[in-house]
Amino acid sequence: MKVTVVGAGAVGASCAEYIAIQNFASEVVLVDIKEGYAEGKAMDLMQTSSLLGFDTKIVGSTNDYSKTAGSEVAVITSGIPRKPGMTREELIGINAGIVKTVSENLVKHSPNIIIIVVSNPMDTMAYLAHKSTGLPKNRIIGMGGALDSARFKYRLAEALDCPQSDVSAMVIGGHSDTGMLPLTRIATRNSVLISEFLSSERLDEVSQATMVGGATLTKMLGTSAWYAPGAAVSAMVHAIAADSKKMFPCSAMLEGEFGLNDISIGVPCIIGRNGIEKIVEIELSDAEQDKLSNSATAVAKTNTLLDA
Ligand code: LAC
Repeated sequence: MKVTVVGAGAVGASCAEYIAIQNFASEVVLVDIKEGYAEGKAMDLMQTSSLLGFDTKIVGSTNDYSKTAGSEVAVITSGIPRKPGMTREELIGINAGIVKTVSENLVKHSPNIIIIVVSNPMDTMAYLAHKSTGLPKNRIIGMGGALDSARFKYRLAEALDCPQSDVSAMVIGGHSDTGMLPLTRIATRNSVLISEFLSSERLDEVSQATMVGGATLTKMLGTSAWYAPGAAVSAMVHAIAADSKKMFPCSAMLEGEFGLNDISIGVPCIIGRNGIEKIVEIELSDAEQDKLSNSATAVAKTNTLLDA
């Protein structure tokens, strides 16, 4: 499988690195607008090949999309990241133009591509990629839920003082500080409901810490995080390459699912060779459905800024 990663910044490079290390892709093309930057990152990564034992070829390109031709999957990480104190929504002005141009260039050279959108505000950028490429809805996937769920599992394992592999949990809703919906009600430790171990007050704290997970790191690092975002994307790309039918919460274009329409927002999805192969309409409590609907209203409001 040939994979393109657009944006050779920290998230894009981590993503290329994790894809290469897993050794399932024949080629990763790293694209950036900064002259020589993607080529440099690709060369540096290629010089880890004999040390880390992967055969994936990593190629860099300064904005030459002909090198991406024939990609089955592309990841869009380009645009500006948040600075401390900024919301993801504040990035729309600059990132919308970039994501639109990048998606159109990708489709020109790989008409059947599956696009994974990482750039923020992610749900709105996934919506924009769908509208500007006209790709079928299963071929545009927003990466947020896989990352937010990993952060949720980290926080739950911390509260439970247990290994993260014991924890099964999911975050749906918008990829924003206020729109995320960590599903504490159905989270488990080795199939025992989390509520057996943690008080509702502690679970609220865990949810809060999860929702501001990206902002917490941005404050500590001075810019947006990259290891967990890169790992979340590579897990999704692997699920497509392996046709594994793994379930991730992803931002998906909805047509009536969960009572929502004409919006891309985080919901449980089965990921395989065709991208989003199924949206899993789990039953939500009334309170959860209300939160998801409110989150969708906020995303829809951000989407209207695309027309501005
Ligand atoms: C984050 C960015 C990728 O949450 O949105 O770290």
